[in-house]
Amino acid sequence: MSQDENIVWHAQTVSRDKKQQHKGHKPVLLWYTGLSGSGKSTVANAVEAKLFSLGCHTYLLDGDNVRMGLNKGLTFSDEDRVENIRRISEVAKLFVDAGLIVSTAFISPFKADRAQARSIVNEGEFIEVFIDTPLAICESRDPKGLYKKARAGEIPNFTGISSSFDVPENPDIHVHTAEQTIEQCADQIVDYLIKNKIVGTSS
Ligand code: ADX
Repeated sequence: MSQDENIVWHAQTVSRDKKQQHKGHKPVLLWYTGLSGSGKSTVANAVEAKLFSLGCHTYLLDGDNVRMGLNKGLTFSDEDRVENIRRISEVAKLFVDAGLIVSTAFISPFKADRAQARSIVNEGEFIEVFIDTPLAICESRDPKGLYKKARAGEIPNFTGISSSFDVPENPDIHVHTAEQTIEQCADQIVDYLIKNKIVGTSS
């Protein structure tokens, strides 16, 4: 008998519905995906600020920060990226259960891992946000100087250069950062949440 067979899910008195009523908005997972330097963290941060001012309860899980803590030690091999995203989706699911609007800003390059993340939260709670910035623009921005290093062969498995990125086929929100300001990108996402009645204008 495996150890798992002796573990029993425990129902909780303070239900998800109760938490939702308390918060005044629906809990969702805004899953940002895009190349390094595409603007995921910047846009997610701007969206969180707007949601906060609307009275929403939010939490932002951000790539580099999580890799310094929970996911410290994971590399950028395909295998470790899968584990990186698996842990993040499990943590994000807990925050969604707590009733929050959770944002995750990770490259999350593999379609299968994004699909897996979608599958572990309830129907309608996963919103894929594709921060679509052409590689040439990410590379010209190069905010951390990593593309330069990757081109020089100093960083192996660099997404977009020596490691693949599966372009989302049907993202819920498709954001073109090269053609809009950060403010406009953030408004596009908040408007989506309002239109889909996830957030009320007075929440
Ligand atoms: S993911 O592929 O596993 O989802 P994650 O979003 O956590 O990646 O981390 C990406 C960030 O790590 C990049 O924005 C960049 O700052 C840094 N980084 C360091 N090495 C690499 C690499 N080989 N490929 C991509 N990003 C890297």
